Amino acid sequence: MKTIDELIAEGVTGKRVFVRADLNVPLSGTTITDDGRIRAVQPTVEKLVAAGARVVVASHLGRPKGAPDPALSLAPAAARLGELIGADVAFATDTVGESARATVAGLGDGQVAVLENLRFNPGETSKDDAERGAFADRLAELADLYVGDGFGAVHRKHASVFDLPARLPHAAGDLIATEVGVLKKLTENVERPYAVVLGGSKVSDKLGVIDHLLERADRILIGGGMAYTFLKAQGHEVGSSLLQEDQIPAVLEYLKRAEDKGVEFVLPVDVVVSETFPDLKAKAPTEHRTVPADAMPADFIGLDNGPETNKLYASKLADAATVFWNGPMGVFEHPDYAEGTRAVAQALVDSSGFSVVGGGDSAAAVRTLGFDENAFGHISTGGGASLEYLEGKTLPGLAALED
Ligand code: 3PG
Repeated sequence: MKTIDELIAEGVTGKRVFVRADLNVPLSGTTITDDGRIRAVQPTVEKLVAAGARVVVASHLGRPKGAPDPALSLAPAAARLGELIGADVAFATDTVGESARATVAGLGDGQVAVLENLRFNPGETSKDDAERGAFADRLAELADLYVGDGFGAVHRKHASVFDLPARLPHAAGDLIATEVGVLKKLTENVERPYAVVLGGSKVSDKLGVIDHLLERADRILIGGGMAYTFLKAQGHEVGSSLLQEDQIPAVLEYLKRAEDKGVEFVLPVDVVVSETFPDLKAKAPTEHRTVPADAMPADFIGLDNGPETNKLYASKLADAATVFWNGPMGVFEHPDYAEGTRAVAQALVDSSGFSVVGGGDSAAAVRTLGFDENAFGHISTGGGASLEYLEGKTLPGLAALED
């Protein structure tokens, strides 16, 4: 992979450089609630600005269905990027239309523009190679060079991630270089004990990575919504908690394989339950209680790991030399159900091992709970991307930058 420094050394002054970023940030209306992904691409943008390039930043935001959706405009992200780099950032109100062409044509050396959400165009995510290719052709008209730096989207075979770099001289930005360097540490010669904490809502999203980690990790700790499918598989009542019944056979097979291989599989021993799902906007105090994980009352919903689980998980992480964590342990957006997630984050901060927080949700959780990002070994900007990397899959956005 060519580095951005090598590309700059070849000369970028006056050239239009397309930077594929991942500006898919959480929004509340038009307010960005966590700008981590924008800050993550800032060094790449600033390097190109300093070298006199005309920088065209592009990204997706959310999952619009191939048509404009004002709620998913990148305008707030463009404004935030401008604040961070301390310069005006132009904004194109379309992706490859008149506004994009005029905005890019209006850039001077060292100036930056952001295009509107790439997924407003159906060509971006199309499964049809020709349709994606046609969109990539039009994007290619807007630039002379390409820098891939949207790590969070490298697992997507999308026009701007996969097809566009094939059409322009390309390099990897600093964020991608850092992320790949860290993930290599988790796949090659990993320091042991290697503990993995997996949370979030769906077991089905994590099947591939669990399968892969059963061959590599020493301990796998499960929390969040997906834990209830494991508890149910063990024959416990889970009330109206999140459940993927169809995943129970897979889960049972994993528990068996873990036992055969001597991989420690750790499940919650107590959980915090409530009769209703909390209002995440109002965040008003809720009725809730802690119950043993094998004695959940029917009709209650499990919303967080309980205090005994938090202690247990902290002890399992304390002596780990390497930890990878993906997915919150509970509904951390509500203060009554944030302790499980906070406890894992604190355990990682306290441990002297190398800790990687992978994923948009877990990274946002760590920051919104007030932790100092620098207290972790690495906070990845990619959730799905880091999981697929750990699964050993070929990621289209990285493969495209290889040659
Ligand atoms: C993410 O949030 O994981 C990335 O931005 C990718 O988004 P996607 O899952 O909608 O492709």
